[in-house]
Amino acid sequence: MTADHWQRLRDHAETLKPIGLRGLFSAENNRFERFSVSLDDLTLDLSKTLITEETLGLLFALADNCQLMARRAAMFQGAPINTTEDRAALHVALRNLSGAPMYLGGADVMPEVLTTLARMSAFSAAIRSGSLTGHRGARFTDVVNIGIGGSDLGPAMVTAALAPYADGPRLHFVSNVDGAHIADTLKPLDPATTLFIVASKTFTTTETMTNAATARRWIAGALGEEAVGSHFAAVSTALDKVAEFGIDKTRVFGFWDWVGGRYSVWSAIGLPVMIAIGAERFEAFLGGAHAMDLHFQQAPMARNLPVLLGLAGVWHRNVLGYGARAILPYDQRLARLPAYLQQLDMESNGKRVSRDGTAVTEATGPLVWGEPGTNGQHAFFQLLHQGTDVIPCEFIIAAEGHEPDLAHHHRQLVASCLAQSEALLRGRDLAEARRQLTAEGHPADVVEKLAPHKVFPGNRPSITLVHDKTTPYALGRLIALYEHRVFVEGTIWNINSFDQWGVELGKELACALLPLLAGQTPETGPGEPVHDSSTLGLARRLCRAMRE
Ligand code: F6P
Repeated sequence: MTADHWQRLRDHAETLKPIGLRGLFSAENNRFERFSVSLDDLTLDLSKTLITEETLGLLFALADNCQLMARRAAMFQGAPINTTEDRAALHVALRNLSGAPMYLGGADVMPEVLTTLARMSAFSAAIRSGSLTGHRGARFTDVVNIGIGGSDLGPAMVTAALAPYADGPRLHFVSNVDGAHIADTLKPLDPATTLFIVASKTFTTTETMTNAATARRWIAGALGEEAVGSHFAAVSTALDKVAEFGIDKTRVFGFWDWVGGRYSVWSAIGLPVMIAIGAERFEAFLGGAHAMDLHFQQAPMARNLPVLLGLAGVWHRNVLGYGARAILPYDQRLARLPAYLQQLDMESNGKRVSRDGTAVTEATGPLVWGEPGTNGQHAFFQLLHQGTDVIPCEFIIAAEGHEPDLAHHHRQLVASCLAQSEALLRGRDLAEARRQLTAEGHPADVVEKLAPHKVFPGNRPSITLVHDKTTPYALGRLIALYEHRVFVEGTIWNINSFDQWGVELGKELACALLPLLAGQTPETGPGEPVHDSSTLGLARRLCRAMRE
């Protein structure tokens, strides 16, 4: 019974709480050796979380009880684990460059995957070399990806992260339906040298279709209708809809319904990344993810990074009751990683019913948020250190930066990262605060007045991930680690991590509101307005100002 496992974990937590994280460190001086695990140069340090070997044993038993291994096998075997959409979640096939087959319903998907990859390579090489040009024969200097959610966050985050490896045209990303986004993006660009990639799994998403139509008008207006074909490419699973938009099929890159939007950066959705860094480095990116896939499948639980990261998440969320997690990459180029992981984690595990449709009995996905260090330190870290909520922090840091001439910057970055997790753990008690204020020469009354404000409770958990350098390979491995962590957590919670019905209602209501904003009378049901009075009032208020 899973309930017994939860109870055992909760009873066990009660024995650890009085000891606290600081207490565990005082009692054992080799926590780092005992609770950090590596896959090649990637190290996951869990020692600054309130765990012992007994905790891990109980969490492994919970995972066994939830059939983690069987469900992992089902994912890699292409079983339809996304049961509400009757689909597999086989994104792992997209990075399988091993030559081994991967099956879906008895058919090997790898030939199709590799054919698309080869087409992407040829197309990106032609754009990068200038052999494929714009309508007027000019080389493409700028590529604008139009997409949103998984069709934007992945390529945008990865392109920024791998900027030191970029040697192709400049990349831009337009996602928001707010006209400001496309207007500001296009302002400095020249239509003659700009290529658009319209990226949408469904090719129906309002934001993307609206932005794509605006881009189309921009090209046609500047270069003529006949130029459109040379300035557009598309990535989608809905090839019929792409054809309706008028993009030639030689410039359309497909993927499959077994690739979820937030798991799609490995597919043709990664085309902008490939254009920026070249096919070889893109393959290294896939290779890193594949290494993590093999590790996830093969490593025993006690050495398995995604399992350990997932179970630490469950421990924090369900047993210790923490409702959020902060993602803190100490890497400016990973600035979009928190946003990327927000979609990956919150769209996957923000669920309230189990796989069988009954209400969950345990809390599911936490709030995921963050910013890169060191900037976050000067913004919200105050709350992390002294606020009333405990928020487990996940620090990500590379040993080496990409700026050898600025190694002193990197040393400061590393020192700051380590200092923050140390401060969260250690804290500062009242006696220490008093001692410090006295040493600073304050009179006794000032010491007493200020000391409580200078107390840090400490004992606050954090996880640190370290790799040597944020290369394409290391980034692929890191993202795959987080994907599998989400899978592990979703499995423990017995939810479907691969659907996202929660995004639908807002979309439907937005469609229903459009006529109202265009000044038309809203439909009414039998005696009732379709919209509530607040929404109607706000719509009328906005409508007045929009027309004035
Ligand atoms: O609305 C949510 C969502 O469906 C995401 O899951 C997806 O990544 C995004 O919209 C974009 O969808 P599409 O790629 O079909 O345009």
